[in-house]
Amino acid sequence: MPHLLILGGTTEASALAAAVARRGGRVTLSYAGRTATPRAQPVPVRVGGFGGAAGLAAWLRAERVTHLVDATHPFAAQMSAHAVAAGAMTGVPLVALSRPAWRAEEGDRWTHVADLDAAIDALAGPSRRVMLALGRMHVDRFAARPQHDYLLRFVDPPPRAPALLRHRLVIDRGPFTEAGDRRLLTEHRIDLLVCKNAGGDGASAKLAAARALGVPVVMIARPVLPERPACADVAAVLRWLDHAADRGV
Ligand SMILES: NC(=O)c1ccc[n+]([C@@H]2O[C@H](COP(=O)([O-])OP(=O)(O)OC[C@H]3O[C@@H](n4cnc5c(N)ncnc54)[C@H](OP(=O)(O)O)[C@@H]3O)[C@@H](O)[C@H]2O)c1
Repeated sequence: MPHLLILGGTTEASALAAAVARRGGRVTLSYAGRTATPRAQPVPVRVGGFGGAAGLAAWLRAERVTHLVDATHPFAAQMSAHAVAAGAMTGVPLVALSRPAWRAEEGDRWTHVADLDAAIDALAGPSRRVMLALGRMHVDRFAARPQHDYLLRFVDPPPRAPALLRHRLVIDRGPFTEAGDRRLLTEHRIDLLVCKNAGGDGASAKLAAARALGVPVVMIARPVLPERPACADVAAVLRWLDHAADRGV
């Protein structure tokens, strides 16, 4: 019987899991385990790293996985590289479910930077009220720019306080709306937003809010990933699954 492994941690991964569950068929959704209380899923879930590409390859073999979908966040570069390597080691076919990057629209005031280091560099200069919309993993690096007043928004309360001299913390897992994010930016008098170019609708409300308020954005570009076939939406992955099955893969 076919067995699909979805590398998850995104809304698209959950949507794919639900779509495959509705059709019937074996599917496992994998989380890194970064979120304390992930949303309930209609399919079996496994949590935690595999132990590198070799560990993932061993898991694919042991669980007789027949199809692998990398639906991780576009900035989860290590997991995506491991998926390509494990696919090559085992012959299990792989596609990425990857949403297009955001593009600046009329009214946007974006500064494009290549990575986190460049974003920190871009924050040289006088004190500002900065929203770091980056998740919690890397915010401590901004301690190198202690002159700013930071607003952080996390899904879960962090296990220890962020290492930023001046910060305020909002705990909220969304869904976010433009009106809600406009209120947030106004209430905290934010004059700069720093975010990753995640793409998709789930996290775009803050960009619409920044556009409406004329707030500038430091936009961190996506990491470069190894070449792999990609689908832009859930329907395309379902077609890929059917097509791969037709070929007896
Ligand atoms: N990076 C972001 O901005 C971001 C934002 C929202 C959600 N996420 C989600 O959070 C997770 C971790 O992101 P990250 O940036 O830490 O990734 P990463 O740097 O690419 O991954 C680091 C390690 O975490 C483990 N891992 C990552 N995703 C996994 C998954 N879906 N299932 C099992 N193990 C996984 C792997 O450990 P082993 O080597 O031991 O297998 C991987 O080598 C991803 O699932 C991603 O979709 C990330």
